[in-house]
Amino acid sequence: MSRKLIAGNWKMNGSRAEWRALAAAVVQQAQGVAADFVVCPPAAGLADVATVVQGAQVALGTQDVCAHGNGAHTGEVSTTMLKEFGCTYAIVGHSERRTDLAETDGLVAAKARAALAEGIVPIICIGETEDQKTKGLTTKVLDGQLRGSLKDVRPARAVDIVIAYEPVWAIGTGKVPTAADITEACAHIRSLLIELLPDTGKSVRILYGGSVKPENAAEILTLANVDGALIGGASLKAESFVGIARAVVAKAA
Ligand code: PGA
Repeated sequence: MSRKLIAGNWKMNGSRAEWRALAAAVVQQAQGVAADFVVCPPAAGLADVATVVQGAQVALGTQDVCAHGNGAHTGEVSTTMLKEFGCTYAIVGHSERRTDLAETDGLVAAKARAALAEGIVPIICIGETEDQKTKGLTTKVLDGQLRGSLKDVRPARAVDIVIAYEPVWAIGTGKVPTAADITEACAHIRSLLIELLPDTGKSVRILYGGSVKPENAAEILTLANVDGALIGGASLKAESFVGIARAVVAKAA
């Protein structure tokens, strides 16, 4: 089994003291666990968390990037600035931003290209809504989102980008798709990746996200084409975040 990527999306939660404490607990508990970890605090917490994770087994990620370089873009944070803080990953196209801020696939692709150009690995999120799933549109939706969000995105190596499959209806709800549904969706994503990125698509990591917990992690993360997880709620406690990795490593042993 290849090493899993365990990514924590802290969303807009916490305080400076809490970010530092959580990052320190993750660094401590992740020691010796055979997985790759990345924590994504809010932008306001990057400086604090950067000092805690520096030199540790835990990478630093951001929850969004600006598609443009430095200049007149009020309120945005550029990839060059993020790089200076030591960010090596960036979530782009999370469904909350697609919904709250009407982010399109085209914008998500531009953000992914900006991250890639700065040597930051974009974690590109896609996933269907409950309504789309009920109507049997999952494959079609994933197809459109992935093609659009990868437009002109050309990673030199497979490790340079990550795809996160996050069914919108599974995020923060405690609802999880069946193993068969996750397998089918991720197999479809894999075949699209091979089509769109002939040189690297076979090995690009695909994460599953949506109500992942230590209790369901071993089953989900050992499915075919699931190379890790993007975790919201359960990433806010070091025990459950690292516990997800531990559960998977224990099952594989
Ligand atoms: P959740 O969030 O783990 O709380 O469901 C996942 C995500 O939004 O990335």
